Amino acid sequence: MSKNLMRAVQYSKYGGGVDGLKHVEVPIPSPKKDEVLIKIEAAGINPIDWKIQNGVARPFLPRKFPHVPGTDVAGEIVQVGSGVGSFKAGDKVVAVLGDGGALAEFALAKEGSTVPRPPGVSALEAAALPIAGLAAHQSLTQHAGLKLDGTGPKVNVLVTAASGGVGTYAVQLAKLANAHVTATCGARNMDLVRRLGADEVLDYKTPEGKALTSPSGRKYDIIIHCTTNIPWSTFKPNLTPKGKVVDTTPGFGTLMSVAMKKISCSKKQLIPVFTAPKKENLDFLVKLVKAGKLKPVIDSKHHLSKAGEAWGKSIDGHATGKILVEP
Ligand SMILES: NC(=O)c1ccc[n+]([C@@H]2O[C@H](COP(=O)([O-])OP(=O)(O)OC[C@H]3O[C@@H](n4cnc5c(N)ncnc54)[C@H](OP(=O)(O)O)[C@@H]3O)[C@@H](O)[C@H]2O)c1
Repeated sequence: MSKNLMRAVQYSKYGGGVDGLKHVEVPIPSPKKDEVLIKIEAAGINPIDWKIQNGVARPFLPRKFPHVPGTDVAGEIVQVGSGVGSFKAGDKVVAVLGDGGALAEFALAKEGSTVPRPPGVSALEAAALPIAGLAAHQSLTQHAGLKLDGTGPKVNVLVTAASGGVGTYAVQLAKLANAHVTATCGARNMDLVRRLGADEVLDYKTPEGKALTSPSGRKYDIIIHCTTNIPWSTFKPNLTPKGKVVDTTPGFGTLMSVAMKKISCSKKQLIPVFTAPKKENLDFLVKLVKAGKLKPVIDSKHHLSKAGEAWGKSIDGHATGKILVEP
């Protein structure tokens, strides 16, 4: 391979799933004024990556074809743009890419979306953080109003799909906020979710799990909803009178329920989440990992040459924690 080329995985049209991914060699990009060029050591896959391939954000994303997917990367800076002041070549970092690019050997990130990765936080742990960690953080702090230093009131939180990328972070962060945490997951992951800190765990395939009933009879002040296909009618009886469902998977049904609830003047709320990655929040999460207070759960790691395996596993929807790719 020529010195100026890198390996990457890209797709050229909507749809196609794993078969739509192609392994290519493309020029290593050059950083603009406010960008850094990162030699990727690990990349994380999120369901939004293949949902974008499916056309969920059409016509806005991807911005153009062919598209190298993926937003979450950890690696080492090899070049900085002329206006970059806070990083230099050789710095270890973690970043959220605004326009994809993670399934490659190198990627460009904005300085404003890049944070340092301290010694003691591995590339795999760091790449497991951005979108899933930030979604959990935003849901619990901005939307649910929890204080992650534990100084807020004690509340009852339910996390659905607590074994997934977002859910594994939501359980741990809710415990930092001193919440009582009920969690749902499959039977095989109940011990793991308990170890992450959940006070009680429901198998989502049992009648109690389907009904989201707290084993200790609690009503929930907050539900962090991290899976799909649970209707408002299931949430409603489980909520306290001013309880909130913070929905990380808002679809048409969520938006209809939000509209209906406005008409009925119910005090129970349904809040759709659209993660807006913030540098200071990513930095906060990296520091929690460094301090041993947050543990990324890694489902599996796959070499870039087998990125299709990782993509297919995410599409299957049964990851325990994060799926990662290493160049
Ligand atoms: N709004 C936003 O900004 C935002 C940001 C990030 C993610 N999201 C969305 O949030 C969702 C979760 O993302 P993720 O990365 O956590 O997904 P994920 O890692 O793929 O989730 C997989 C996990 O969900 C579990 N699961 C599936 N159905 C379940 C159910 N009915 N009850 C309990 N557990 C269930 C699976 O358990 P089993 O294997 O046992 O079935 C598996 O462990 C996705 O739809 C994603 O697109 C949205």
